[in-house]
Amino acid sequence: MDTIRHHGSDVPVLGLGTWQLRGAACVEAVERALTFGYRHIDTAQGYLNEAEVGEGLRRSGVARDDVFLTTKVRPREFRRRDVERSTEESLTALGVTSVDLLLMHWPNPDVPLEETLGAMRDLQDRGLVKHVGVSNFPPSLAERACELTEVFTNQVEYHPFLSQQALLRQAERYDYLVTAYSPLAQGLVSRDPVLQEIGAAHDKTPGQIALRWLVQQPRVIAIPKAASAAHQRANIAIFDFELSADEIAAIHGLDRDERLTDDMHVDWER
Ligand SMILES: NC(=O)c1ccc[n+]([C@@H]2O[C@H](COP(=O)([O-])OP(=O)(O)OC[C@H]3O[C@@H](n4cnc5c(N)ncnc54)[C@H](OP(=O)(O)O)[C@@H]3O)[C@@H](O)[C@H]2O)c1
Repeated sequence: MDTIRHHGSDVPVLGLGTWQLRGAACVEAVERALTFGYRHIDTAQGYLNEAEVGEGLRRSGVARDDVFLTTKVRPREFRRRDVERSTEESLTALGVTSVDLLLMHWPNPDVPLEETLGAMRDLQDRGLVKHVGVSNFPPSLAERACELTEVFTNQVEYHPFLSQQALLRQAERYDYLVTAYSPLAQGLVSRDPVLQEIGAAHDKTPGQIALRWLVQQPRVIAIPKAASAAHQRANIAIFDFELSADEIAAIHGLDRDERLTDDMHVDWER
């Protein structure tokens, strides 16, 4: 598994997404992924699976310190005291003493950014959280966040059908990572003829091509969700080949501004 050195941590460039994984299936998926070599897991308060993610982690036998663990604070918990309480609840559910990364899950215009990020910084000072970041922040808001604190990442939807060039330029300027969620476009990449053709040339699937295209870009990491063993294995088998500059350009050409997850509070043009 390749890693990126960022803000003093080694982050595996590919993590396991866990949205919609629940109950025993979640425990099993997390445990199995870790035995396959995954070392980066993404969860959130809103996924209602933090306890199962923690259980999968313990059952795998992989040392806690060897796994990069992310969770996210729900927007309704953005007041100072709520950030503290809900994060402590997340740690209890996960069964860990700290997380590697804590994100604001979505912007919430009802709570000042200063208040939420200030509370998250205090959690860092207390050692409960190693890094802080944001998710679903458009450029203008991400810029404000970067002026208030050291932002580790902005986790956003990013796949071949949705360009993120503006955020990538900003990530360079403010030294944050872009974490690509829905990197397989929730399965849509499998049907794309360009990705199929490039895949055939490398003996890889369209999904593997999409993931390779993401992690080959500077500052980009990806968190595909996969419940099945076959999909989990496929998604980490992307470190034994490289895409050419022409192939990368062809995949950038697939952008059709297709956003699969949206929220009416976010103005992506800004
Ligand atoms: N911050 C946010 O607001 C936000 C929003 C959305 C997602 N996320 C994070 O990003 C993660 C990934 O995004 P996502 O779940 O929306 O979509 P995704 O990872 O693009 O796609 C997941 C879907 O693709 C299938 N799949 C996985 N590997 C495959 C493969 N090798 N070949 C064919 N199909 C494959 C999965 O099936 P199986 O599960 O059946 O294997 C599942 O149906 C989430 O789980 C979550 O952790 C964050």
